[in-house]
Amino acid sequence: MSKQLPQAPTVKALRQRVARWRRDKLKVALVPTMGALHEGHLSLVDHANALADRTVVSIFVNPAQFAAGEDLTTYPRDLEGDLAKLSSRKANLVFVPTGEEMYPEGFATSVAVKGPAAVELEDKHRPHFFTGVATVVAKLLIQAGCDFAVFGEKDYQQLMTVTRMAADLDIATKIVGAPTIRHEDGLAMSSRNAYLSDYERVVAPLLHKTLQETAEELRVSGDVETCLRKARRALNKASFRVDYVEARNGETLKKLMGTSDEPIRLLAAASLGKTRLIDNIAV
Ligand code: PAJ
Repeated sequence: MSKQLPQAPTVKALRQRVARWRRDKLKVALVPTMGALHEGHLSLVDHANALADRTVVSIFVNPAQFAAGEDLTTYPRDLEGDLAKLSSRKANLVFVPTGEEMYPEGFATSVAVKGPAAVELEDKHRPHFFTGVATVVAKLLIQAGCDFAVFGEKDYQQLMTVTRMAADLDIATKIVGAPTIRHEDGLAMSSRNAYLSDYERVVAPLLHKTLQETAEELRVSGDVETCLRKARRALNKASFRVDYVEARNGETLKKLMGTSDEPIRLLAAASLGKTRLIDNIAV
């Protein structure tokens, strides 16, 4: 089945295919991924299909967003499985560049975003991450020249960062966010969930449950610091190592101003054993 799904291994092949569609007045959407696709990724493909006439999915495990000692070499890879899934979800083209295609000898540019990428959440714990993400996403958006690009709210700070970057660089592609897809027990789907041991997999949904309870308590009491302290304590007690549990402005990701009409987002990152999980919800 995967044979029917065209693949573009080079930027040139990607551009030719997209140019033909655009000549035919078709709208095109891009879904950037690092592969090992699950239902969360595939929901973005559905979203893209609803927005546009043609959907391009990129699969590229981007070395620039992994720090030394992170899981670049062990990151799950399953190209055959991914192609079969994308074919059954009606993607129209898969862009699968090599490292050399994306970062040829002499590559010397990076895109550094401040604003939502410098608010001491993920950026504090993974200092190189958003420059790596913004650089590769800027390249993908420029390479594909699509009308839309779809990103998951699962990586909320990433979505805000990419949105800021595309606006600041006058990239004409509209950035669209799509909701987080979860397992039945609430755990947000993630390629990295594959690292969890059986025991950790049972504990992991507590991250989302704690965010939900915290949101509920915040709506009632409004005492942000007390609610967040309680959430961190609950996670520590359940053997998570907490990087952060924070309530932030849902648009800027800055600290809350405390006005009654302010959109509030709860964001958390915590590790179970070797696996680092992130999650977020609106309050
Ligand atoms: P990756 O982790 O493969 O995720 C690709 C896209 O899928 C991202 O937009 C992410 O937010 C979304 N996604 C992941 N899990 C999801 C879930 N449970 N529900 C909804 N969407 C989900 O994020 C990256 O790759 C990379 O940083 C990338 C943007 C491709 C740049 O390299």
